[in-house]
Amino acid sequence: MKSETAEEAPGTTLPDGFARVWGSFFAALYNPLLWRTERRGNAERRSRLLRGAGGKVVELGAGTGHNLAHYDEQVELILTEPHEPMARRLERHLAQSGREGTVLRAPAEALPLPEDYADTVVSTLVLCTVGDLEASLAEVRRVLRPGGQLLFLEHVAAEEGTRLHRWQRRAHGFWHGFACGCNTNRETETAIRDSGFRIEKLITDRLEFDVPLIHPLIWGRAVNP
Ligand SMILES: C[S@@+](CC[C@H](N)C(=O)[O-])C[C@H]1O[C@@H](n2cnc3c(N)ncnc32)[C@H](O)[C@@H]1O
Repeated sequence: MKSETAEEAPGTTLPDGFARVWGSFFAALYNPLLWRTERRGNAERRSRLLRGAGGKVVELGAGTGHNLAHYDEQVELILTEPHEPMARRLERHLAQSGREGTVLRAPAEALPLPEDYADTVVSTLVLCTVGDLEASLAEVRRVLRPGGQLLFLEHVAAEEGTRLHRWQRRAHGFWHGFACGCNTNRETETAIRDSGFRIEKLITDRLEFDVPLIHPLIWGRAVNP
C-alpha cells in the first residue's frame, strides 16, 4: 500500500543552490525553533521514549542531538545524519556531552551497517522528512535484529476530511521548502505497520509546536518480528 500523500499535495521546488544555502540557515535555526517545544513537554516525552533504548542503538537523522541527554550511559550509540551542516553541529554536541558515540553521515534509506546489527533504532521527527519512507523503514528492519525495536516520535497527517488536513495539503509546498523536506501529511503509522513492524505501544499526542500544522504526533514502540 502507498502510504505517502505528500506528492499529491501542491508542491514548490526550490532551486538546488538556494536549497543548499537555506539548509545551512535551517540547521542554525533548528535549536531556537524547537526551544519552546522542548521546554513545554517534548524533552520530557523524549526522555520517556528513550528510557526504553538499550544495547546497540542507531538513531536516524539525529539533527543537532536533542536526544543525546536522554540515553542511558550504557548504550552503544551510532548517530546517523545525512545533512552536513546538521552533522557538524551533532559532532560538536556529542563532543561537549562527553559521552561515547559515533556520527555517521548517512540517510535512513542507505545505512552503512550490517544486517541484524542494532537492538534499537530511534527516529524522532525524521520519518516526516526522509525522501523515501518505505525504503527507510525497510532499511531499519534490515539493520534491526529480529525482536529489535523501533522507538518513534513523529508528527503525522491529520484525519482526512478535517480542516487541519486540508490546511496541511494547502501549506505543503511552503512548509516542505521552509523545513528542508519535511512533510506535514504523512501516514507514518500505516507505513510502519505496512513495512512489517508490530506496533506494541502507540500514543497519539499533540506536539507543543507553535506552527499548528505540525499535529498530531504519534510516539511509541514497534517491534521487528
Ligand atoms: C526535524 S529534524 C529532526 C532532528 C532530530 N531527530 C530531532 O529529533 O530533533 C529532521 C532531520 O532529518 C534529517 N534527514 C533529512 N533527510 C534524511 C534522510 N533521508 N535520512 C535520515 N535523516 C534525514 C535532517 O537532516 C534533520 O536532521
